[in-house]
Amino acid sequence: MVFPEYRPRRMRRNETLRALIRETRLSPDQLILPLFVMPGKGKREEVGSMPGVYRMSVDQLGREAQDCLAAGVKSVILFGLPEKKDPMGSGAHARDGIVQRAIRELKNRAPEITVVTDVCLCEYTDHGHCGCLIGDRVDNDTTLELLAKTALSHAQAGADIVAPSDMMDGRVAEIRATLDEHDLSMVPIMSYAVKYASAFYGPFRDAADCAPQFGDRRSYQMDPANSREALREATLDVEEGADILMVKPAVAYLDIIARLHDEFDLPIAAYHVSGEYAMIKAAAQKGWIDEKRVMAETLLSIRRAGADIILTYFAKEMGRLLLNA
Ligand code: PBG
Repeated sequence: MVFPEYRPRRMRRNETLRALIRETRLSPDQLILPLFVMPGKGKREEVGSMPGVYRMSVDQLGREAQDCLAAGVKSVILFGLPEKKDPMGSGAHARDGIVQRAIRELKNRAPEITVVTDVCLCEYTDHGHCGCLIGDRVDNDTTLELLAKTALSHAQAGADIVAPSDMMDGRVAEIRATLDEHDLSMVPIMSYAVKYASAFYGPFRDAADCAPQFGDRRSYQMDPANSREALREATLDVEEGADILMVKPAVAYLDIIARLHDEFDLPIAAYHVSGEYAMIKAAAQKGWIDEKRVMAETLLSIRRAGADIILTYFAKEMGRLLLNA
């Protein structure tokens, strides 16, 4: 069928027709809100480079959870700012660590919320790398045990899903085995399977105080130039027992999301990261773009590329927009 017999504009004539043939939809229950938890009481500090995002103390989480639920958002992912850092990142798996306390608080105050935890060492090591060091090299195999201990302590504190973001080889298998040995075989692993060494993490590193003190993360995170390697990374994580595959960042990597969606039958998550959020906020503050429309179009594009789940700092704003639509 060609013009003039076929006219695509026929089905765009009004909103009801457009809605009938809409291929992609976004719903608040597909969104996960990242939360930064800090020590202290009654604390709520806005992150300079992320307007609308706060670091908060554990006692604030009940209220935050209610805000999420009111926006239709049912899942959060926790990042912790520990009181002290050390070379091995021991705060990551402390029984009474910041994230472990945050999990218990959320489970007590808002049991309806699904609590995901980021499993990584970089917020807890004094050198800021995601694993432990031998000399100035981030050592893979000695890090695995620490990651598994961290995931286990999160699951024992009540986490619903653990999400390793460190990019060490073999960590999904190690975490799965450790959880299973401790009767936690029902706790899923959302693997940051395809995580690039990206400049878009800049504002997050301010928020979570986890910039590496020397060097960078390119010896463990992926080279932004590679897409076939993404399939190999994802294949490994599937074989090791991942339940959800994540791509990160999202917008600059929509092609990778689409490839994973085509090649794998596991659910796909995408992390719309701090820099992607900050750019929209900054342009909107200057009055250069319509923030709500750009937010909605961006998150929709991530879904259209093939993500089932989106981790985004816009979760509450997007949720409210969808509920009021
Ligand atoms: C921890 C971690 C990072 C992010 C999520 N988990 C930072 C990094 O790898 O440097 C980034 C999230 C964001 O930018 O929003 N490894």
